[in-house]
Amino acid sequence: MLTLDYANALSTRVGAHGLDPASLAPGSESARHAAAITRDLRTTRGKDWERWRDLPFDPARSAHVRDVKKIVAERKPGCANLVVLGIGGSALGNIALQAALNPTTWNLLPENVRKGPRIFVVDNVDPANLRAVLDACRASDPDLKKTQFNVVSKSGETAETAAQFLTVRQLLIEALGEKGHAKGIVAITDPERGTMRSICDAQGYVTLPVPDGVGGRFSVLSPVGLFSAAMCGIDIDALLDGAAAMDKRCDEEDLSKNPAAILATVLVRLGQEKGKFNHVMMPYSNQLYLLADWFRQLWAESLGKRHNVRGEEVYTGFTPIKALGTTDQHSQVQLYREGPNDKAFVFVDVQDWGAQDLTIPEGLDAPPLRYLQGRTFGQLINAEKRATEFAFVESERPSVTVTFPRINAHSVGEFIALFEIATAYAGRILEIDAYDQPAVETGKVATFGLMGREGYEEWKQKVDAALAPTKHVI
Ligand code: PA5
Repeated sequence: MLTLDYANALSTRVGAHGLDPASLAPGSESARHAAAITRDLRTTRGKDWERWRDLPFDPARSAHVRDVKKIVAERKPGCANLVVLGIGGSALGNIALQAALNPTTWNLLPENVRKGPRIFVVDNVDPANLRAVLDACRASDPDLKKTQFNVVSKSGETAETAAQFLTVRQLLIEALGEKGHAKGIVAITDPERGTMRSICDAQGYVTLPVPDGVGGRFSVLSPVGLFSAAMCGIDIDALLDGAAAMDKRCDEEDLSKNPAAILATVLVRLGQEKGKFNHVMMPYSNQLYLLADWFRQLWAESLGKRHNVRGEEVYTGFTPIKALGTTDQHSQVQLYREGPNDKAFVFVDVQDWGAQDLTIPEGLDAPPLRYLQGRTFGQLINAEKRATEFAFVESERPSVTVTFPRINAHSVGEFIALFEIATAYAGRILEIDAYDQPAVETGKVATFGLMGREGYEEWKQKVDAALAPTKHVI
């Protein structure tokens, strides 16, 4: 079971930079507030933008798993490359699952060792990156018969994904012909509406749904994340089991027993009361590092809001930062301990490295290195995490630790549910809408204007006026 240790966020460990334990105790304002939110979340789960809460449970779960497995059974045999086309919430979960649950060297493994195709998640419109991915696919599969393109876009209007899609569609038509090109595409989009839906219907693409009421950053446990995961051999049933188990733990009204409520309460209060407006997630595991990227979007886009639900200006939110242990001990920890005390830390560690662990050999007679010999890398990385946690307590830097018993699909599912539900609690505590992203819109429509999209001409004029050339360029 995933655990959350928040002792280092309390004043008993980090003095004035931590929370008074009594302020979280039964009967406290925080405990009463969290219980009220738990009751409220019971009434909103499965409705409107909280339909993501239903994803690990039937009937949504069995329908999605059945449909995903059916398409995987059709498209996986003979598939050498899987290219996921999407951005933001339509890519970060896919990247995180793949990184967490398959070896870091997955794409380099021989085909007979891998449990699925090589995977590339494009997540940008950097031409050099896309060209490199397409070149790599065509080098091993010149006629693109062994490459599947998984287009993920709820709206179909996202410029980045649309540009990626138009490019691969053309390549597939050149390779497989107008009629045959659909064999290379699996689209994940809104089941009823939107530009991508119309394209899929017209072109005859196989599709899976981005379910109604599930926003991009809450979509990883829907077909958006499940399809590429299942293609690459990840146990999606165990992933959803883990999420369901965490969801049940987070239905507890007692704050001290509810991990999502504690996590949200502690991080939000450290921000609001102790000035820790930067939240650093620091996994001590390369495999778990990209979960921090997924977390960054979830925390930033959900909680960074100008207005509260009453329309008042609040400019709320926290800046999520990712760091990697032990790597960033040699890069960031100097700042983290002696720079501004404006951060709360979320360490993520692994209790048992199991068969992944590696023993450091004995045999070299070098007394200063004797302490390492015969020990394991798992022991070393965990000791370094504990040592850093101690060093942060010494500097009065508050932290919490999320511990994976082992890295597997179940515990990754628990982790995802924990942070999604914590985000729902944090949104309620901050009294903001955690499910919109109004500030993302301006950049999107300005891009449309600059790229000549009909109906958006005024945006080009606005951009050109605001960013008119000046002499301040050297
Ligand atoms: O979380 C979000 O809502 C965004 O990151 C979207 O997922 C992203 O903009 C992609 O949108 P779409 O799936 O409509 O292409």
